Amino acid sequence: MVILAPSLLASDFSNLESEIKKVYMDGAGCPYLHLDVMDGVFVKNISFGAPVIASIRKVCGIVFDVHLMIINPMRYIPDFIAAGADIITFHCEACEGEDEIRQTLALIKSGGKKCSLSIKPNTPVAAVFPFLDELDMVLVMSVEPGFGGQKFIEGSLGKIAELYKIKTEKNYTFDIEVDGGVNLENLKKIKEAGARVIVAGSSIFGAADAGGAIAGFLNV
Ligand code: DX5
Ligand code: ZN
Repeated sequence: MVILAPSLLASDFSNLESEIKKVYMDGAGCPYLHLDVMDGVFVKNISFGAPVIASIRKVCGIVFDVHLMIINPMRYIPDFIAAGADIITFHCEACEGEDEIRQTLALIKSGGKKCSLSIKPNTPVAAVFPFLDELDMVLVMSVEPGFGGQKFIEGSLGKIAELYKIKTEKNYTFDIEVDGGVNLENLKKIKEAGARVIVAGSSIFGAADAGGAIAGFLNV
């Protein structure tokens, strides 16, 4: 069974509470809400930050899956923990080296939160190998981070499968999350490759009937 994580980036920001209710109300079927934080430096776009997350925390108890697309993530981890993040993902490419990655992971864990590392489409899976035993999740980006509504990069399937193979062989416990361009047509092969946490922005919040879109995803 997959864990659906609708990405709020594709929602109507003028109605955040009602948008969130579409995916978290009883029976909607989405255990996570994916929150894309962009700084305009690590990625071109700017989205929202900890104050917005703290505000929406007040209106729902769903798991907040916070995806940081920001440079120097360590500097802001305390803010996102205080805002109510449950899982915090940051990018390998946003850190100077292994030490910074380890320190950032440790900071997230010391706040009692789940930690996750992400790789962009051109970053090999091997970038996360040194950290696999410490991770709760690995996020494989299947589009260039920065914008919703892009086309799924097929090469991501091989990266998911590679991670899944290592996870199974070595009995690691991390989840594999996929993010970008996921839709009803490609979900089956993404699941078969080994992804368990599925981010979907435009195909859920962009749908005329978000509930129907979620049901469709859960039927694949
Ligand atoms: C892109 C974000 C994604 C985005 C996905 O940088 O990380 O989470 O919202 O949107 P879709 O599902 O529309 O590709
Ligand atoms: Zn994301």
